Amino acid sequence: MSTGVLGGGKGARSLPSRPGVRLAGTGTAVPATRLTNADLEAIMETSDEWITQRTGIRARHVHKVELGETTSGLAIAAARSALSNAGMEGSEVDLVVVATMTPDSPTPTVSCGVASAIRTGHAAALDLNGACSGFVYGLNVAHDLMRAGSYRAALVIGADRITRHLDYSTRGRATSVLFGDGAGAVVLRATDDASKGIIAQAMHSDGEGSRHLFIPYTREDFPPEEEFEEHKINRVQMNGAAVFKFAVGTFSVLIERTLSKAGLSPEQVDHYVCHQSNARILEAARERFGIPGEKMPMNIDRYGNTVAASVPLAFDEIRRTGRVREGQKVMFLAFGAGLTWGSSLWQL
Ligand code: ACO
Repeated sequence: MSTGVLGGGKGARSLPSRPGVRLAGTGTAVPATRLTNADLEAIMETSDEWITQRTGIRARHVHKVELGETTSGLAIAAARSALSNAGMEGSEVDLVVVATMTPDSPTPTVSCGVASAIRTGHAAALDLNGACSGFVYGLNVAHDLMRAGSYRAALVIGADRITRHLDYSTRGRATSVLFGDGAGAVVLRATDDASKGIIAQAMHSDGEGSRHLFIPYTREDFPPEEEFEEHKINRVQMNGAAVFKFAVGTFSVLIERTLSKAGLSPEQVDHYVCHQSNARILEAARERFGIPGEKMPMNIDRYGNTVAASVPLAFDEIRRTGRVREGQKVMFLAFGAGLTWGSSLWQL
């Protein structure tokens, strides 16, 4: 039996060999600056009508570094908000996982900055890059480390400022209108009640699809079939139609397989918290399984696609309305660059 000494953190005590894991708190942070479709109309050839009809997005938030809205700054703010929501001190946390594909720099990691800012002591800290699936991957990883008995309290954070990699001229419009910045966090706590935690999960990848969504640093990073152009360096390059097709298919298969692993039917899950990539992608999955709208929250109209932050932003929003309760089942789902996709079905 582990007492969590490997993870650091204060107040370690003995737990069962396979403890349960409880979702104890949530929090978010979004940049102050809001960019509406009308704002975009002023800087590129686009229209509110095109963006709303194709994606469901009306506004998104974009970071300003001078306001402290770095990836680390957003992650720390979301972490503090989640800790406060859980009624916990940072010193109780012994594991920090930050899912991000836009760290402020290659090193130090965002998670080290968070662990230090919230005064964990010497908690384990790791960054995980699963693109838009990163937060769901992070939840599964942190949960399983806790279920194994090695850690007692974890912060799992999704934080990205993807807008630093967008081209806000007309040539980048098919991609730049989709994304926004933000961070979302959850606090996980080990519990003696072993029934709480993940009841089914999935994590998958397909590197063959990497050419559909990539950010090149140099000419060498372009796939052979992609034309090199200087202005594409450091900017998101996406084949929207290919990603759309992948996402619609993946969501359905993920829901079906995760339900089947857990032996549940669609109506037995109380909330489906999905990556907010495009309202049409979510609607397609919702209709296929007959999931009512109130069980699949959508906030893409206000935030756009915030990459790893998208799932925890949506979860925090419904949790704070009081709709998420102990005893319910919640399925988290995401897909993203890589390509990657994953699910995490929880018994609360
Ligand atoms: N405003 C106005 N017109 C536009 C815009 C814009 N912002 N962007 C593209 N258009 C034009 C195109 O130039 C094209 O014009 P043309 O027919 O004269 O050439 C026309 O609109 C249609 O373009 P399509 O690309 O065919 O539009 P589509 O209906 O496929 O929608 C979209 C594009 C919204 C990008 C869609 O493909 C999509 O949502 N894909 C999935 C993207 C996604 O989810 N990515 C995130 C993955 S997660 C991650 O890990 C980062």
